[in-house]
Amino acid sequence: MNSTETTDVKLAEPHLEQVLASAGIGVEYTRAERNTLYYRDEEGTEIPVLDLVGGFGSLILGHNHPDLVAHAKDLLDAGTPIHAQFSPHPHANRAALELNRIVHRETGTEEPYFAVFANSGAEAVEAALKHAEFDRGLRLAELRDELAAHRVAARAAVAAGENVAASAYAAAGVAPEAGFEGLIEAVERENARRLARSPLFLAPEGAFHGKLVGSVQLTHNEAFRLPFGSLAAQARFVPVDQPGVLGKIVREEGAVVLDVVTRDGEVGVVERPFPLFCAFLIEPIQGEGGIRVISEAFAQEVRTLCREIACPVVVDEIQSGMGRSGAFLASSLIGLRGDYYTLAKSLGGGIAKTSVTLIREGCYRQDFELVHSSTFAKDGFSSQIALRTLQLLEADDGRAYRTAREVGGKLLTMLEEVRSDFPDVIKDVRGKGLMLGVEFHDQVRAASPDLRAVAESGFLGYVIAGHLLNAHRIRVFPTGSSVNTLRIEPSIHLSDEEIEQLRTALRAVGSLLRDQDVQRLVGAG
Ligand code: F0G
Repeated sequence: MNSTETTDVKLAEPHLEQVLASAGIGVEYTRAERNTLYYRDEEGTEIPVLDLVGGFGSLILGHNHPDLVAHAKDLLDAGTPIHAQFSPHPHANRAALELNRIVHRETGTEEPYFAVFANSGAEAVEAALKHAEFDRGLRLAELRDELAAHRVAARAAVAAGENVAASAYAAAGVAPEAGFEGLIEAVERENARRLARSPLFLAPEGAFHGKLVGSVQLTHNEAFRLPFGSLAAQARFVPVDQPGVLGKIVREEGAVVLDVVTRDGEVGVVERPFPLFCAFLIEPIQGEGGIRVISEAFAQEVRTLCREIACPVVVDEIQSGMGRSGAFLASSLIGLRGDYYTLAKSLGGGIAKTSVTLIREGCYRQDFELVHSSTFAKDGFSSQIALRTLQLLEADDGRAYRTAREVGGKLLTMLEEVRSDFPDVIKDVRGKGLMLGVEFHDQVRAASPDLRAVAESGFLGYVIAGHLLNAHRIRVFPTGSSVNTLRIEPSIHLSDEEIEQLRTALRAVGSLLRDQDVQRLVGAG
């Protein structure tokens, strides 16, 4: 095989391409602007497609925003240094300052957030996980020192004639005959075992935080996670909106060590908590899990519990952030405050690939900067594009956020109207701003055997997507972990006509599903 020119030789993940082609969505696009992707048909005519996938949420400002394109050209023409590793990064720093200004305004805090830049969403999540573990390791070391100092003090107290409480032996799991040194040995052995446990992460059921080695452990979908479970520390997934369950799960883990203390004239052994839980990761609006807005009550429960167990809260705004919800941070709308925030996708304005992990000063360990890095992070080009993107969002007193709310409101109203006309087809419509989901009823019990077969294969959402593309020139996909939910994430430039185009298309799908007309659903008509 020596002809890399031959386009019919496929080596870049050809299997996935085939799967997409079989659902009728394997179209190659040749041009893009605002909410439109164009392809060329067999005659070479350019065909526009309304793109509601929006780069999986990367295009809050649309494809190829003219201001960003012009800025990118200027930067390249001016020979801006893109790679100047190990030198000051003024542009990344300006982006960090702007991010702080916005986050402070929305969350009402003044505490600085330090910024660790990266290149993709999963990488920002992994920087958060690594930083949280770095911090946990330092806190564990402090705890070990403190426990050791307490044992030394207890030994001195016993030598000076202090009594050892009978309950201390029971707590350490040794008989009183073992004597005080036997007790100390047992406590040390037991603590060493407990403190060596792998860190545990917490995340809600339905979570999606990426697909790299660490982040995939926090992605609830078993198909993505289980094959790689042996590679990294695990998460416990907690059910959402079940008050008290979160606390129960945390208690079940029994994250306590034994502390030898001198109290009330006696030496005793008490249990005290240790930081087993490394971080709680949470998306304010679950994206890939099916567009589910986290409730204020659950957000509050997470905050309260995490404060109790000294576990940092990592708010993953990679998809919901950058104005998509109608605020810069979707978490600010539900009163969820993060010790860390992760941003990616639209941070690059649809042009650059960049991401960032923001870490509250009170949790920040500056030595992390000496042990974590990436060649491409903080590069001059992406940082300046990110900064301009932030400026565009903030322009005119946050007009972009208002637009996201207004256009999103119109879109949601339309979707609700279609649902109320087709309640037997559309199960639910939900989301916030320009992050919306349309869930179709499962068709596994449909009268039509063909439709049942499609539903059983788990491809109903993709078949609907294929129909919308081929019959209505609308591009939309189901979420990977909620296969009957179409995810709608356009840019703020969505027009009334485009909303009507989607209404017409969804009504047509509603009728076809109501009529169980699989022939026309899988065809273009
Ligand atoms: N966190 C969230 C909330 C995400 O939605 C994603 C990606 C990631 C992290 C990982 O980012 O792909 O840049 O490494 N979501 C895409 C999706 C894949 O389909 O919604 P990444």
